[in-house]
Amino acid sequence: MYYYERTTGCGLIDKTQLSKEVKLAGWVQRRRDHGSLIFIDLRDRSGIVQLVFNPDISKNSHDLAHSLRSEFVITINGKVIERAQETKNPDLKTGNFEIQVTDLTILNKAKTLPFSLDEASHVDEELRLKYRYLDLRTSYMQERMRLRNDVIFAMREFLQSQGFYEIETPILTKNTPEGAREFLVPSRHKPTYFYALPQSPQLYKQLLMAGGLERYFQIARCFRDEDLRADRQPEFTQLDIEMSFIKEQDVQSLIEQLFVFLFKKLFNKTIQLPLPRMTYDHAFSHYGSDKPDLRFGMQIQDFTKLFEKTELKFLRDVLDKGGKIGGIYVQGKDISRSELVRWVDRAQEIGAKGLLWMKIEENKIETPVAKFLPADFYEQLRTVVPGLAHGDVLFLIAGEYKEAWELLGRLRLMVAHALDMIPKNVLHLSWITDFPLLEYDKESKRWNSAHHPFTSPQDGWENLKPQEMKARAYDIVLNGIELGGGSIRIYKPEIQKRIFELLGLSDEQTKEKFGFLLEAQELGFPPHGGIALGLDRFIMLLTESTSIREVIAFPKMANGYDPLMESPTPVDDKQLLEYGLKKLPIKK
Ligand code: AMO
Repeated sequence: MYYYERTTGCGLIDKTQLSKEVKLAGWVQRRRDHGSLIFIDLRDRSGIVQLVFNPDISKNSHDLAHSLRSEFVITINGKVIERAQETKNPDLKTGNFEIQVTDLTILNKAKTLPFSLDEASHVDEELRLKYRYLDLRTSYMQERMRLRNDVIFAMREFLQSQGFYEIETPILTKNTPEGAREFLVPSRHKPTYFYALPQSPQLYKQLLMAGGLERYFQIARCFRDEDLRADRQPEFTQLDIEMSFIKEQDVQSLIEQLFVFLFKKLFNKTIQLPLPRMTYDHAFSHYGSDKPDLRFGMQIQDFTKLFEKTELKFLRDVLDKGGKIGGIYVQGKDISRSELVRWVDRAQEIGAKGLLWMKIEENKIETPVAKFLPADFYEQLRTVVPGLAHGDVLFLIAGEYKEAWELLGRLRLMVAHALDMIPKNVLHLSWITDFPLLEYDKESKRWNSAHHPFTSPQDGWENLKPQEMKARAYDIVLNGIELGGGSIRIYKPEIQKRIFELLGLSDEQTKEKFGFLLEAQELGFPPHGGIALGLDRFIMLLTESTSIREVIAFPKMANGYDPLMESPTPVDDKQLLEYGLKKLPIKK
């Protein structure tokens, strides 16, 4: 890299430059006055190097160096010299050398920072985000930004080699139901009309296939007005991909090859292919989730048949209503009684009506319901859990299948975290396939697409009930987080229309919202499919960050607020009028 006004980067000083004159620039990381000598740690993006100001070498620079403070921006000329043996710093890449400064210029001063960069990770997040440009100076953030850049670059490199075109799609687009709530942008040219920001480039990428582009990708910004969590932002980035004339296995193997390329290039790591895959039904019945964390076992097991004759009222009620009793088996952790009781509270905190625990003791089962269990219950338990032994614990939840298994899935994760059962430094990738096509929304009493309405149903769907229809959809899961999702799309208008009908859209609504798609499907639409990977989530997992905010240069707070620019902001009435809009009193 060419350094323009500098001869090199601070972190690049090495023995090849010994005795040479260099010109560096950067920030003052630290200043130490040692009698007549002044030492400065100078930092730029490439790293840190020590400067030494000696009055015998340059009195002017030495005098000026007294005034340097943290985060002053300076430039220097000087000579690279080797440090005395006892002052070498093995913790610093450039620690064998220092720069004997002959000339110092202060480019800019800095007031005392609102927080010290060394302590940035402990600072209140709002303050950190308000001064994100300071936070970005830390090695923690610089490393994340570098990795993000390297990942994006490698993705581009791989996809270009596979014949993909990188194509940008509009940000001002149409309000079409795709799943999440959209951000709206008023139009000045058409007052009271709105654009929507894209939840994803889904429809555009399908139209690119209609346009004969065959292989598309984009590092795409997406916008969703949803409740935020650690792995969600209102605007985020996807690696978005679409291909024509392919089946699900082709998309999956492309992504597998992409991961092989990325991990080899970035970490010199090998990934075993093919990646493990399991159906949605299997994932849900064994892990209570469509994004199972497979770094550890502790699968959910079905204990219903052991309680068929039970007289325990709370279990009887569930069973009589067709419910089930599932459980997780915590092996060899010898959880104390008081801890077991705390787990009941924790289960209730996540919405369980109750949690039944059973602990295997020498000759008995310790449990609050001991006296209601048949004499041979231990033997019965061993038919489900053959390895059951002293100190093992079972946590059981009874309820409607979906609800109970979802809770067990969450409990499984909580227990694994609490008991430190998740191996470190493992990246576990897997495919989840054969998702349901539709999900019933109890509130609106309607079927919604589980993925999006353009996902192709699996063969035979016409003869099935909505709850039985399966989608040609797949997700890729990394360490229990949904990293990406995609599907084979509908390309025939008659199927697309039937799906819109199933979703409760009238002919009129279909025409108004998706007329352009149906028309395109009548004008020679190729079979196609694709996937999108959450880029922020990927970097978050690679860097073991606790939130995607840690890997986005300028993220929003959990409530969507940007403390740096202080947005969103109110708009004055005059400006609103240009859009044909007027403020109403806000309902509290
Ligand atoms: P989907 O909605 O599953 O699919 O999104 C794909 C991936 O994007 C990431 N993601 C998010 N990341 C951060 N913040 C969010 N709010 C957020 N929402 C989603 C996840 C997710 O797996 N158009 C389809 C893809 C397709 O069918 O090709 C889509 O967007 O990692």
